[in-house]
Amino acid sequence: MRNHLYLAPLQSFTDHHFRNAFQQVLGDVDRFYAPYLKMSNDGIIKEGPKKDVLPKNNPFEIVVPQIMACCTEDFLVMANYLIDLGYQEVNWNLGCPYPMVANRDLGSGILNKPEKIFQILEEVIPQIPMKLGLKMRMGYESTEDILSILPKLNDFPLSEIIVHARYGKQLYQGQCDHDRFEECIGLSNHRLVYNGDINTVEDFRRVKSLFPEINHFMIGRGAIANPFLFEMIQENTIEFPEDRMEIFSDFLNLLLESYLKETQNDGNVLIKMKHYWEYFSESFENGKSYYRIVKKANSITEYQLFIDQL
Ligand SMILES: Cc1cc2nc3c(=O)[nH]c(=O)nc-3n(C[C@H](O)[C@H](O)[C@H](O)COP(=O)(O)O)c2cc1C
Repeated sequence: MRNHLYLAPLQSFTDHHFRNAFQQVLGDVDRFYAPYLKMSNDGIIKEGPKKDVLPKNNPFEIVVPQIMACCTEDFLVMANYLIDLGYQEVNWNLGCPYPMVANRDLGSGILNKPEKIFQILEEVIPQIPMKLGLKMRMGYESTEDILSILPKLNDFPLSEIIVHARYGKQLYQGQCDHDRFEECIGLSNHRLVYNGDINTVEDFRRVKSLFPEINHFMIGRGAIANPFLFEMIQENTIEFPEDRMEIFSDFLNLLLESYLKETQNDGNVLIKMKHYWEYFSESFENGKSYYRIVKKANSITEYQLFIDQL
């Protein structure tokens, strides 16, 4: 069976500017997940992510929006907003590890209160005419939580369960727990999607050989560092395409143009590009020197000159 590859949602990185530039010049991604929608304290959906999922910002059709909620009411507000925009599937974030989020039972913070998860699912599913998938860590304080959660999730009609093979308190440190993921396979009737630390084609091959029955994989940081990763995985090669630099500079130009079209603030756009380059630089042999040049750029013109010289 063919492998299905998903681009992970990464707040501040995989927004519509990135997704659209990606879809125009790169390929082999089956689904793009948008970073999560969340309610602000005054009971309305936060503006940035709300705009990010607008159909006019998403002319390509394989975008799955995500929401973060720890009560039925907030869940429904956001799901209904997405239904009104025409989305047919939503993903529920049960993975965000940051204490400010998790301490309020949001993201991975709800994983050690499974009854709350099941109650929300029971209440929302009959009320939303759309598919629902989950993206979860394996627990909050350890990877054990998932062992009691997965069997109960079999009772709900979910489209998929994406598992980032870490627990919340780990943040992004330490290893993914592959032994636990192996246990998960036997416990779930749903489509399981593996996520975590696939940064190279070799990583993908290793994960695939550990879990040959898994055909769906989500990739985040590795794909930002190397946007050719999906193509290289699908073509089963560790070689970059011959026209790598041309395609990559087309991608950089589209990304830059898209941001510049949205804001008059060149300074902010330059900062954004510098953040991306923290990742991009990782996939080049001389990446550190590229990153130094980008970090030193004082204007968009200087940055553009750098892209031209690439
Ligand atoms: C900067 C950053 C922002 C992220 N934002 C989100 C998000 O909005 N929603 C989500 O479900 N996960 C988010 N994640 C987690 C990723 O989607 C993914 O699960 C995680 O990075 C592990 O996959 P990877 O090793 O392939 O990057 C974020 C991760 C990072 C590093």
